[in-house]
Amino acid sequence: MSINTRLTDNFAFADTANVSLSDLRRPVEQELTAFRTFFRDALKTDVFLLDQMIRYLHRMKGKELRPILVLYAAKLCGGISERSFRAATMIELLHTATLIHDDVVDDAEQRRGLLSINQVWKNKASVLLGDFLLSKGLLVSLDADEFELLKIMSKAVKAMSEGELRQLKASKLQNMTEQKYFEIIRDKTASLLAACTESGAASATSDAEIIGRMRDIGLDLGIAFQIRDDLFDYGMDDVGKPVGNDIREKKITLPFIKALETCSFLERQKWKLRFRKEHKSTGEVAKITRFVHESGGFEAAAADMEVYSIRALTKLREFPVSQARDDMELLITYITTRKK
Ligand code: IPE
Ligand code: IPE
Ligand code: MG
Ligand code: MG
Repeated sequence: MSINTRLTDNFAFADTANVSLSDLRRPVEQELTAFRTFFRDALKTDVFLLDQMIRYLHRMKGKELRPILVLYAAKLCGGISERSFRAATMIELLHTATLIHDDVVDDAEQRRGLLSINQVWKNKASVLLGDFLLSKGLLVSLDADEFELLKIMSKAVKAMSEGELRQLKASKLQNMTEQKYFEIIRDKTASLLAACTESGAASATSDAEIIGRMRDIGLDLGIAFQIRDDLFDYGMDDVGKPVGNDIREKKITLPFIKALETCSFLERQKWKLRFRKEHKSTGEVAKITRFVHESGGFEAAAADMEVYSIRALTKLREFPVSQARDDMELLITYITTRKK
């Protein structure tokens, strides 16, 4: 693709709308290779079953968006160092752990284009593997006496567990509101992206004001990122995990909330009832998907996503012009336009 220089003062995304993952990897290609070595080393174990599961994990290729974000943030704030690799490794370990736990909670069958861990090894072993990765993630910082990183990561892990639990409760009670939705995704997803930008910055500078600004950018980015993910569930594309799973699991997300807002009271009750139904057929899932599109719910959620992405972009543009800032701009664009 052609990447036009993006130092304009407007927020037109059109020229960079087809940003690919390889475009994002390019500026940190070598550093990502180094990160992968750190990541593999952190996952070594003598326990046979764990080793089997970890080998499978290595075959499940994720986007590595969080390590990229850590490296970009470090670059923007002074330069990539060994601490940046440590931060990236910790975050990817924590992220992988929460995905494994999340697939147990969501009863998901597929992850990263392969059978999910819970499908292959069942829930019990999956929970234990997730615990192993979580503890390994935190140990990476303890082993290196990196207490600042440990603090950032522990905060994120706490927020993520709280977010996932609140989501579970909200879907049980069916009392989801837009405000609650945003609180939940801030905790379960944005807190980790905030930890990426915060730890990346902290690995490069000790300026608390800069680190704080970078954290705020990560939070906005994280919210946009989760809305994009929630939009995937109402889409048709192959994103390496099944679409319609949120509808099947009765997980109310922004596109459906927005769709409900367009209805009369009676209509709303009807769609809520349909959404609440257990064991929905493919046809029932398709009906809800169509409703979300035809009512404008999908579009409205996408518009909110843009708001958060523009907020992140505005905060980013308070930093002096540099190649690293341009790279980060591209990453922000990728988050809202990505295809998986
Ligand atoms: C999935 O994250 C979990 C969410 C927060 C939506 P990613 O889409 O970054 O997952 P991988 O690592 O690329 O598989
Ligand atoms: C994000 O929510 C999960 C975590 C933050 C761990 P989802 O449940 O929507 O993520 P996917 O769609 O399963 O990846
Ligand atoms: Mg899930
Ligand atoms: Mg999802």
